[in-house]
Amino acid sequence: MKSKILAFGADGLVGSRFTDLYHKDSQFITPKIDELDITAKKPLSDYFEKNRSDFEVVINFAAITNVDAAEKERGNKQGLSWQVNVEGAKNIAENCLRLDKFLIHISTDFVFPGTKNNPGPSAEDTKLPETEEGLGWYGWTKGRGEEEIAKTGVKHAVLRITYPYRAHYPAKIDFARNILELFDEGKLYPMFSDQQMTPSFIDEIAKVLYLLVEEKRTGIFHAASADLTTPYDFAAYLLEKARGAKDVVTKGSMKEYLSAAGRTPRPIVGGLKVAKTESELGIKFMGWQEAIGEFIKQLNA
Ligand SMILES: NC(=O)c1ccc[n+]([C@@H]2O[C@H](COP(=O)([O-])OP(=O)(O)OC[C@H]3O[C@@H](n4cnc5c(N)ncnc54)[C@H](OP(=O)(O)O)[C@@H]3O)[C@@H](O)[C@H]2O)c1
Repeated sequence: MKSKILAFGADGLVGSRFTDLYHKDSQFITPKIDELDITAKKPLSDYFEKNRSDFEVVINFAAITNVDAAEKERGNKQGLSWQVNVEGAKNIAENCLRLDKFLIHISTDFVFPGTKNNPGPSAEDTKLPETEEGLGWYGWTKGRGEEEIAKTGVKHAVLRITYPYRAHYPAKIDFARNILELFDEGKLYPMFSDQQMTPSFIDEIAKVLYLLVEEKRTGIFHAASADLTTPYDFAAYLLEKARGAKDVVTKGSMKEYLSAAGRTPRPIVGGLKVAKTESELGIKFMGWQEAIGEFIKQLNA
């Protein structure tokens, strides 16, 4: 039987690939923001009520994801980032609780500071920070969103991802395609060689999501590359494999970049561990180089 899913933000970078990959196995309801805004409490609860028999799982992809724009709202709980990432997430959770629907909420490794004193990669059971110290406002709102959902008592899973990328999505530039486009235009800037990361190939995110939908497993899960890399190594490997271009990337320093005034804090020693997710779901994530191989196969297909 097909899984019946109500998904918010399903036309975005991550959600649209999930619905593309699993539309044959699932029956989706995917309201767009102009039809239904997750911060509008009454219309949201009416929508849940009206469609209650047409879905059993809810996935929340909807979020404000522009970290620099979010930073301009720091401390402002009336701002869009707090309203969508915290209040909107809570509104969805309350409706899921009321109608006994299983909720899957998408989050990020930016909920952790990833600083020298609080380094990643973070495990699924790493405690969320209690203060904003070292975090950008985006990461803080995403962490509070996770907490508000848990407080409602709804049956739910949180799936954290990091630097998601995929082969085809013209509407929004992602981490990998940004590198390719900058290179093609002769505008590639130095890539950080002192930043630690575990980028998420979106097809692997989708695979985990589908398992969570099928098994309705509660808890916190991660989808990311099985091993660590840096933007410099990622870019160098990607350009060599996708463009045959060797030694074309220069090194930059994230530490220096972040030390300039007005920069949004971001994890520098970041990334997500995936061991608990692998053992609970019985899967293995690809290493970052293997995932780039899959990404390139799709680009060339
Ligand atoms: N992109 C990243 O680098 C990244 C990294 C780690 C984690 N994540 C997480 O992954 C999830 C999906 O991100 P994404 O990159 O797919 O984001 P995206 O491409 O920006 O898509 C987000 C979607 O949410 C919708 N949305 C925003 N505000 C809404 C509201 N008030 N009500 C209903 N829908 C609303 C957007 O609609 P409009 O486009 O029409 O505004 C869009 O369809 C988010 O939870 C994000 O925090 C993303």
